[in-house]
Amino acid sequence: MSKKIYNFSAGPSVLPQQATQEAADAIRNFANTGVGILEISHRTKAVEGMVAETSSMLKKLMGISDNYDIVYLGGGASLQFCMVPMNLLDEKASADYITTGVWANKAFKEAKQFGTVNEIASSKADNYTHIPKDFKQTPGATYLHVTSNNTIYGTEWFQFPKANTFLVGDMSSDILSRKINVDDFGLIYAGAQKNMSCAGVTTVIIRKDVLGHVNRTIPTMLNYTTHIEGESMFNTPPVFAIFVMNRVLNWLLQNGGVDEMEKVNIQKSSTLYDFLDSSKLFIGTAAKEDRSRMNIPFVFRKDAVDPAKSEDLQKEFLAFAKENGLEQLKGHRSVGGFRASLYNAMPIEGVKELVKVMGEYEKKLLK
Ligand SMILES: Cc1ncc(COP(=O)(O)O)c(C=O)c1O
Repeated sequence: MSKKIYNFSAGPSVLPQQATQEAADAIRNFANTGVGILEISHRTKAVEGMVAETSSMLKKLMGISDNYDIVYLGGGASLQFCMVPMNLLDEKASADYITTGVWANKAFKEAKQFGTVNEIASSKADNYTHIPKDFKQTPGATYLHVTSNNTIYGTEWFQFPKANTFLVGDMSSDILSRKINVDDFGLIYAGAQKNMSCAGVTTVIIRKDVLGHVNRTIPTMLNYTTHIEGESMFNTPPVFAIFVMNRVLNWLLQNGGVDEMEKVNIQKSSTLYDFLDSSKLFIGTAAKEDRSRMNIPFVFRKDAVDPAKSEDLQKEFLAFAKENGLEQLKGHRSVGGFRASLYNAMPIEGVKELVKVMGEYEKKLLK
């Protein structure tokens, strides 16, 4: 038998095996049509039905009411950095942004092209190690944009600010990992390649009343209304990525939904955080109260490793982890060190194995 591999990549990342097997089977024969999912027209009953089913499963899992439309778009979460203000923010209006990491900052910068944008709080001065707590919203601002989980820095909003109007949330790296109140949000977007599907599709959940308030011509393909009216079929949608999402959502429903995921995600992240808090070699980089359950960056403790040797030892640890079947643990260059991403599809056994291997390495190095 081949060795068990655990993939800690931040995205694209591990998916439920059941879902990837179903996707593999559908490449040959989709929904008993005799035609593969990669080869079938999106204008068939089978694909239209699959897309509609995907939305109804997502509504059930997240508690999305009929006040919202759901669309599946290309262009990644990054395209939403401009589509959101283009569709929601009038040239004469303003919007508030809280910058808690690289992605939040990119969203903020992009929005500047469309209206007045206020960075009402930022944790940049502390290398984004925490979520800002003190800020005032701008009276009359159209929306408040937050990034619910900061994939690179490993911080997460556990209590969203109460927006004067409505929140816009980039939930690319924690959607479906915990319960959220969708009604607090006018718009939610998420690149799928972490907790929902493979790369190629971005899910956008749009409250109906937030559209239609801007006085600008929006290019057809960048207009949410185009895709809402076309039921994500105005142009050819990313059919395969939507199908993978369909199977991931099915797996979620069969396994207790978001409530159960949240419980397990707390268990998984606590297993690693408890280890980090007692380790003499490794230490987490994010402020304790804001520590993400999805992405956990950690480094060598400065008092344990000579800085001159740190780079070589990092490589050594990554090689040791790899030998033990633990993949993709290298940290993002902005934080350095290591990062373990524990999305829904990462089993608790994977985290236990990680902690075991980290402990073994620590013993070996500090003996
Ligand atoms: C929170 C967050 N927002 C946006 C993005 C950008 O996503 P994409 O590559 O789909 O444009 C990422 C990618 O990692 C992310 O983690």
